Amino acid sequence: MTAPRHPAHPDHPVHSDHPVHSDLLALARQAATRAGTLLRDGRPADLAVAATKSSPIDVVTEMDIAAEKLITDTISAVRPDDGFLGEEGASAEGTSGIRWVIDPLDGTVNYLYGLPTWSVSIAAEHHGETVVGVVAIPMRGELFHAVRGEGAHATGAWTGERRLTCRPSPPLDQALVSTGFNYVAEVRAHQAEVAARLIPLLRDIRRGGSAAVDLCDLAAGRLDGYYERGLNPWDVAAGDLIAREAGAHTGGRPGEPPSPALTVAATPGVFQPLQTLLDDFGAWRD
Ligand code: IPD
Ligand code: CA
Ligand code: CA
Repeated sequence: MTAPRHPAHPDHPVHSDHPVHSDLLALARQAATRAGTLLRDGRPADLAVAATKSSPIDVVTEMDIAAEKLITDTISAVRPDDGFLGEEGASAEGTSGIRWVIDPLDGTVNYLYGLPTWSVSIAAEHHGETVVGVVAIPMRGELFHAVRGEGAHATGAWTGERRLTCRPSPPLDQALVSTGFNYVAEVRAHQAEVAARLIPLLRDIRRGGSAAVDLCDLAAGRLDGYYERGLNPWDVAAGDLIAREAGAHTGGRPGEPPSPALTVAATPGVFQPLQTLLDDFGAWRD
């Protein structure tokens, strides 16, 4: 059985001295900050739905598309040989061994309604392994970032720069756990049944509306756990690294890594009991 994923080097230094990773981090921070500013300051007052995807409530706006273009243009200008996987269609193999996994706007429904919980999520993979993750949360003035093996950090207007560690694990019945619901009605109906079985066994459940923000909130000690079925690589790539580098464990069904079937992330003491309950309750199926 595969152990839950956790930081490779618990005694990691605070600052990266790996030139390649620090260059990737700087570029990811620049691209996420630019896109976040565009989304925050450029949001049209009459913002409308440009298209729908898996269902009529799975929406895309012109700003999702503009933000992805800004991110890929920013990265390509410096690193023309890198690959891309972006939610809004960016797709390129690349030849450098680096691939950028991008959700230009995670939490589009919140953004559409003017709610503040949305983010820009950018991860860099090196030969398939995530080495850098950046999540910008513009309406909070926060930017989360992690380099593999070197810890997770956040910069914020009201907190300054700080090293992230998830909070001490409580007993499961005192755990605050976030989740999300799919855009397809039948799927979310089953997800609601799972949540209904889980909620009496926890402190409470939250539904924030951005998977990347949920994972950063776990890293920052603002949640004890998070789970969701139906996520795509761009939803979790950056946040998964940030959570693990802050000391959280992440996985899927028992013995498996996070996947579209199930993503579970939690403080070390909450992870295994939460994962077991989710597996028992069928959180991994529709
Ligand atoms: C969604 C958000 C939401 C989660 C959905 C995602 P989007 O991403 O992360 O919290 O529950 O599963 O699809 O569509 O806003 O990029
Ligand atoms: Ca998303
Ligand atoms: Ca998105």
